[in-house]
Amino acid sequence: MLQKENFSLLKFNTFGIDAHCRLFCEYDNVEELFLLLQEIRDNGLRILHVGRGSNLLFVRDFDGAVLHSHILGKEILERSEEKVLVRVGAGEVWDEVVSWLVAHNCYGAENLSLIPGEMGAAAVQNIGAYGAEVGQLVEQVEAVEIATGQRRFFGADECDYAYRHSIFKDALRGKYVVTHVLLRLNPEFKAAVGYGSLRSEVELRGLNCCNITASEMRSLIINVRRAKLPDPEVLGNAGSFFMNPVVGTETFESLLQQYPDMPHFEASQGVKVPAAWLIEQSGWKGRRLGPAGVYEKQALVLVNHGGATGSDIADLSKAVQESVFEKFGIRIFPEVNFIE
Ligand code: EPU
Repeated sequence: MLQKENFSLLKFNTFGIDAHCRLFCEYDNVEELFLLLQEIRDNGLRILHVGRGSNLLFVRDFDGAVLHSHILGKEILERSEEKVLVRVGAGEVWDEVVSWLVAHNCYGAENLSLIPGEMGAAAVQNIGAYGAEVGQLVEQVEAVEIATGQRRFFGADECDYAYRHSIFKDALRGKYVVTHVLLRLNPEFKAAVGYGSLRSEVELRGLNCCNITASEMRSLIINVRRAKLPDPEVLGNAGSFFMNPVVGTETFESLLQQYPDMPHFEASQGVKVPAAWLIEQSGWKGRRLGPAGVYEKQALVLVNHGGATGSDIADLSKAVQESVFEKFGIRIFPEVNFIE
């Protein structure tokens, strides 16, 4: 177990913000986590659990304990004709998990290749891309209750998965630490090319949707992401900064009259309009506000051009939200968690 005081969180947030926390603790197994939670409860410190911080914005220093899981392990528990069950430690790097799954003939996670972060955070945030979401692959989440140290197993339906949402982000926010995730994969590969531009990306590369392999699909997704999204090692960012808003049919129809080219997708309670498009139309794509900016190739991504503080990014976020609201009357909300 590792414990450090007044620790810089630079390596634990992909925005590259040099915020500090009072105490930083990294544990290797569930037993260490029990002890740690007990100690922190006794000290009365606030707790923040992080993965790689690929969805966090530290607006200021964190006056509490930041916990990080180093619970590793990927293990196939069961393989049949219908499914493969794989238990993964919460501290495993998500993209390494995807690579391992493909190499072990466990399919269904390829479209989620290269999403930054770790297994535990992926299950909390229900990460998604190219028509897939991690929630669709979750069979069970193993967690420890922070207040009591009790272990609890959540079946997939108890996790309440929806677009970028789970029970751990909402009703149980800050109440549990995920220690392991049981994934249910497919023993046979079927390419999922239903998402908007994906089929044309496949064809553009001279591949065929009917006989593309899982490794080819993984490489393709990696290439598409690299072309569109900035590498956090080079330019600090947290992927999509805002969620895509869903608007009611009336609002949608009046907007479509004004902007006939507006991209849109059917959603369960209305129509989803890409926030990237709204931001671009509001004139923000590639613009800067001090050291914070809107990425020039994907308007949904806010970037740190160097030396930005959390509040620089928060100011930019607010300015973008206001412009979009003024122009379209639509409110967009951050997907990124603000830590104050
Ligand atoms: N668009 C613009 N301007 C831009 C970028 C996109 O107008 O600068 C429009 C295009 O019309 C495009 C549409 O927006 O067709 C959608 O763009 P894209 O396919 O890039 O997806 P997105 O809605 O912007 C979502 C996820 C991403 C995920 C991609 C691909 C959210 C909040 N974001 O982005 O997730 O990789 O789809 O599936 O749902 C993340 O969460 O960090 C993330 C990167």
